[in-house]
Amino acid sequence: FKIQQLFSYPNDNYQKLKKEALKCRRCQLREEANGVVMGEGNLNNKIMLIGEGPGANEDRLGRPFVGRAGKLMDKILASVKLKREDLYITNVIKCRPPGNRVPRQNEFEACVSILRAEIELIKPKVIVTLGSTATKYLINPEESITNVRGKWFERGDIFILPTFHPAYLLRNEKMKKYSWYDFKLIKKAADRINEL
Ligand code: URA
Repeated sequence: FKIQQLFSYPNDNYQKLKKEALKCRRCQLREEANGVVMGEGNLNNKIMLIGEGPGANEDRLGRPFVGRAGKLMDKILASVKLKREDLYITNVIKCRPPGNRVPRQNEFEACVSILRAEIELIKPKVIVTLGSTATKYLINPEESITNVRGKWFERGDIFILPTFHPAYLLRNEKMKKYSWYDFKLIKKAADRINEL
């Protein structure tokens, strides 16, 4: 991706990024996937949710978080009166890994420039990392989600809050209470941003 070149355009950089991203063939994941699943949502509201990578439903429909985990995500958001349209939701990896396995380092390296460009273009004030993969990328590759969830991290002028991935919550119902709590923090931050 010629990010420098993309950034030289004034207003429609995001659409250009998306168009470029949808054509990506930089790793072998695209060979087995139906297509690239680009992030989507509000480009102006300054909150970004980042998951791991598309699953089967996302791959089929070409949109992030539209399967069971996505439905749970919507419920959690609704519990604090946030809607999908209030934020931007994306993944570290944009093509479905076979069988939803964890993305490999080379796939990550091939793909991450898209996420980086999404962050640079949208300039979120708050990023929520959903689960281990996004947390490792944005906070620290050595860090475990269990240690850092619910804690705020500052990276430049972005505040990052790791929380459990909704797919993990589907498998571990008892952990849902932590996400209700974390999203209360996120809602507070969102309200504060909107007051600025
Ligand atoms: N899990 C993710 O990490 N991302 C999606 O888009 C769907 C499920």
